[in-house]
Amino acid sequence: MLDKLKLEIIDKVNDVNNLEELKQVKVETLGKKGAITQLTKTMKDKSEEEKKTFGKQLHELKEYTNIILDQKEKFLLKQKIKADIEAEKIDIFLPGYEFAAGLYHPLTLVTKEIEDFFSSLGYSINEGNEVEEDKYNFEMLNIPKDHPARDMQDTFYFNAEELLRTHTSPVQVRTMENNDDKTTPVRMICPGKVYRRDEDDATHSHQFMQVEGLVVDKNISLADLKGTLELFAKKMFGDNTKVRFRPSYFPFTEPSVEVDLTCHICKGKGCSVCKNTGWIEILGAGQVHPNVIEAAGYDPNIYQGFAFGLGIERVAMLKYGIDDIRHLYNNNLGFLNQFNKVK
Ligand code: PHE
Repeated sequence: MLDKLKLEIIDKVNDVNNLEELKQVKVETLGKKGAITQLTKTMKDKSEEEKKTFGKQLHELKEYTNIILDQKEKFLLKQKIKADIEAEKIDIFLPGYEFAAGLYHPLTLVTKEIEDFFSSLGYSINEGNEVEEDKYNFEMLNIPKDHPARDMQDTFYFNAEELLRTHTSPVQVRTMENNDDKTTPVRMICPGKVYRRDEDDATHSHQFMQVEGLVVDKNISLADLKGTLELFAKKMFGDNTKVRFRPSYFPFTEPSVEVDLTCHICKGKGCSVCKNTGWIEILGAGQVHPNVIEAAGYDPNIYQGFAFGLGIERVAMLKYGIDDIRHLYNNNLGFLNQFNKVK
């Protein structure tokens, strides 16, 4: 009789497909009214002899039933977990959140382009100090304390000796001075911010950017400067761009020149951008003054060089056709997003 019940229980457990059904089988076998429990209740009517054998068999069946129910439960649980995991599967092919990478500011784009060009000619890219000493910003550049050239640039002082630099030219002196060996040739550019007490308008800002250039070696002439700037102009504004030198004055260069480029808008014919001259002024330059070479520790009888100072905003405005310098500082995304074409 118990063997038959055992087979029945085995069949039932085998047929079970889920935990709910298994619970049902448990109730039907070991529950209060379950088959095995019912049989246990019949024990009291059995003889002593029967109690022994039947009781033992019943106990074994109970144990066995517990074991197979347990095993089945474990199996079903595993299956359930597996099914749950499969149902929850993460779709790795869904597109992710858009990553908002920042863009280069037009001034950075132009700076990088200038750096690329001069690096390709073997120039190093140097950094100077934005808080500069009077000594480097003026005095060693041949602009003594009482020199009228200071008036145009006199600017933001921290104390009698320190100020926000008014141009990147102090980096000329610092670069030469930093070379322990004063026979080392110099070929460097230095991009960076400069400050002046200008009134802000469409073409002026109290803070703007320059790139200084300096080449010092034996036999460096204005012809080298012109050749270099011509290459530069062609790279920045196109192959047909021409360069024109006009005599000028800077205390730290002799001779000094203002450099114009053919207007890239009208190609030299004359338009509103170039005020009908066909030319656009782009930078100041010249042969480094012997006093500057000497102040920085080089021998001016052996070494000469050229230097130039270029306004980066100017280049950006010409290159991109920007009509007001203040657009470059307002951080208006509508404006800045137009320069998305990072090369
Ligand atoms: N420092 C000058 C300026 O800011 C530009 C310049 C640089 C001129 C180097 C000559 C040589 O106006």
